[in-house]
Amino acid sequence: MSTTSKVVLGVSVLFTLSTVVGVHLKQTWDRERLHEGVVRDIERLERKRDNLLLEAQRNLTQELEAQRNLTQELEAQRNLTQELEAQRNLTQELEAQRNLTQELEAQRNLTQELEAQRNLTQELEAQRNLTQELEAQRNLTQELEAQRNLTQELEAQRNLTQELEAQRNLTQELEAQRNLTQELEAQRNLTQELEAERHKRDTGLKGSNQPQD
Ligand SMILES: *[C@@H]1O[C@H](CO)[C@@H](O)[C@H](O)[C@H]1NC(C)=O
Ligand SMILES: *[C@@H]1O[C@H](CO)[C@@H](O)[C@H](O)[C@H]1NC(C)=O
Ligand SMILES: *[C@@H]1O[C@H](CO)[C@@H](O)[C@H](O)[C@H]1NC(C)=O
Ligand SMILES: *[C@@H]1O[C@H](CO)[C@@H](O)[C@H](O)[C@H]1NC(C)=O
Ligand SMILES: *[C@@H]1O[C@H](CO)[C@@H](O)[C@H](O)[C@H]1NC(C)=O
Ligand SMILES: *[C@@H]1O[C@H](CO)[C@@H](O)[C@H](O)[C@H]1NC(C)=O
Ligand SMILES: *[C@@H]1O[C@H](CO)[C@@H](O)[C@H](O)[C@H]1NC(C)=O
Ligand SMILES: *[C@@H]1O[C@H](CO)[C@@H](O)[C@H](O)[C@H]1NC(C)=O
Ligand SMILES: *[C@@H]1O[C@H](CO)[C@@H](O)[C@H](O)[C@H]1NC(C)=O
Ligand SMILES: *[C@@H]1O[C@H](CO)[C@@H](O)[C@H](O)[C@H]1NC(C)=O
Ligand SMILES: *[C@@H]1O[C@H](CO)[C@@H](O)[C@H](O)[C@H]1NC(C)=O
Ligand SMILES: *[C@@H]1O[C@H](CO)[C@@H](O)[C@H](O)[C@H]1NC(C)=O
Repeated sequence: MSTTSKVVLGVSVLFTLSTVVGVHLKQTWDRERLHEGVVRDIERLERKRDNLLLEAQRNLTQELEAQRNLTQELEAQRNLTQELEAQRNLTQELEAQRNLTQELEAQRNLTQELEAQRNLTQELEAQRNLTQELEAQRNLTQELEAQRNLTQELEAQRNLTQELEAQRNLTQELEAQRNLTQELEAQRNLTQELEAERHKRDTGLKGSNQPQD
């Protein structure tokens, strides 16, 4: 064999060998790639399933949270309603207390009016007492005046008695004087008679030359 032939043969063999090896290698590679794709597909599917499960769980969790939020809002609203009721109760109690205070004030007013009326009644009684005392004093004054009138009448009577006595004394004196006058007259008469007798005697004794008196 010529050198050229040898070279050609060598190249051919090399080419064939490399082709066989290449085909084999490609086949192996292809098989590996196929396997990898299947695995990837399975993995993708598993991932997708996991994701769906996670999402469902998250949805569920969220729904639960939403429900819990709703429950809490309901409770908050119930609390608010209760607080409103408590406040209304407080307002009512305050009103009741104000009503009580007003009733107490009204009662105090009544008590004061009663006291004022009692005071008035007492003042009226005091005035009636005063009027009575004034009347008693007027009665006393009148009695004093009556007593003074009596005293004066007694004095007038005493004066009268004295005047009567004075008149009696006067009458007596007059009688005494008349008696005296009579006695004087009687004495004068006696004197006259005595004188007349003396004269007669003298005339009889002296005769006619008797001087004239
Ligand atoms: C999760 O909720 C969303 C919207 O609320 C919905 O589109 C989706 O389908 C839900 N997912 C699952 C797995 O239920
Ligand atoms: C529940 O309430 C919280 C705060 O109150 C809020 O941040 C959250 O988004 C609410 N959740 C839902 C599902 O409404
Ligand atoms: C409702 O009131 C109760 C007690 O008064 C309290 O413990 C609770 O936290 C309140 N709830 C809300 C949502 O305010
Ligand atoms: C309000 O008063 C009523 C009766 O007076 C009572 O039954 C109720 O419990 C009270 N509410 C509150 C919140 O105090
Ligand atoms: C307070 O008095 C008013 C009228 O006098 C009455 O209408 C009201 O019911 C009373 N309130 C309470 C809480 O007793
Ligand atoms: C009590 O008397 C005062 C004044 O005398 C008056 O202003 C007040 O309204 C009265 N109160 C009541 C409840 O009658
Ligand atoms: C009643 O009289 C007393 C004393 O005399 C006095 O202190 C009181 O204020 C009077 N009351 C009224 C309501 O006038
Ligand atoms: C009025 O007089 C009576 C008895 O004379 C006495 O008991 C009463 O206290 C008097 N009243 C007043 C207000 O002075
Ligand atoms: C005053 O006198 C009259 C009659 O004389 C009598 O009726 C009256 O009771 C007397 N008054 C007093 C307070 O003594
Ligand atoms: C006292 O006398 C006067 C006049 O002499 C008479 O007017 C008066 O009424 C008398 N008083 C009494 C209480 O008798
Ligand atoms: C009684 O007499 C005296 C003096 O003689 C005289 O002053 C007096 O006024 C007389 N009284 C009466 C009541 O006549
Ligand atoms: C009357 O006379 C008597 C004694 O003769 C004498 O005591 C008396 O005072 C006289 N009365 C008057 C009022 O003169």
